[in-house]
Amino acid sequence: MTVFDSLASGYDLGMLPLEAAILRRMRRRAFPGVAGQVLELGVGTGVNLPLYPPEATIVAVDHSAPMLRQALRRPARAPVCAVQADIHHLPFRDGAFDAVTGSLVFCSVTEPGRALAEVHRVLRPGGRLVLLEHTRGRGLGAWLTDRLHPLWFAWNGVCHLNRETARAVHQAGFRLLREETRVLGIFRLLEGVK
Ligand SMILES: C[S@@+](CC[C@H](N)C(=O)[O-])C[C@H]1O[C@@H](n2cnc3c(N)ncnc32)[C@H](O)[C@@H]1O
Repeated sequence: MTVFDSLASGYDLGMLPLEAAILRRMRRRAFPGVAGQVLELGVGTGVNLPLYPPEATIVAVDHSAPMLRQALRRPARAPVCAVQADIHHLPFRDGAFDAVTGSLVFCSVTEPGRALAEVHRVLRPGGRLVLLEHTRGRGLGAWLTDRLHPLWFAWNGVCHLNRETARAVHQAGFRLLREETRVLGIFRLLEGVK
């Protein structure tokens, strides 16, 4: 049982304002170009699934069964297979994927370094990592996310507002090819290569 189990049914509705203001456009910049054997981490209700091209094959991982059930109802052009698993222990062989994707996931995984080491393991050499994350901001954004984080985390117990996800991706051995930021550097589209 994860905190996300109870959020699954109301998740899309709760996210509507943020989707309309920021995320929808960033998702469209991030995921339509991803093809081949793709692993999506923390797929949630499957918001990204309609964006993948028909040539891709998606393995959608989440540790929350209610989230996966919602994801499987989502229309998609690519074939989707859902796997209930923890990102820290991915049940896939080394180099199994051409690309690994995720959105709004590394704010809530317990050990980002360990999870990224697993991602690195299951990606083939030259494979791409495409993430859309909210992170510690830049300048005023850094000040804001640092100030708000303790209150936010005390309330929900799972989501970190000030994670340095770009740095963690670099430290996990990926070469960063693209980093696009929005809203004081808080929202980031990161693309790395193994
Ligand atoms: C904030 S939601 C984001 C959902 C979706 N990717 C999106 O962009 O709307 C985070 C998702 O990651 C999943 N998650 C968090 N930590 C996980 C872990 N360690 N292993 C597998 N899934 C995880 C949660 O169950 C949840 O569905």
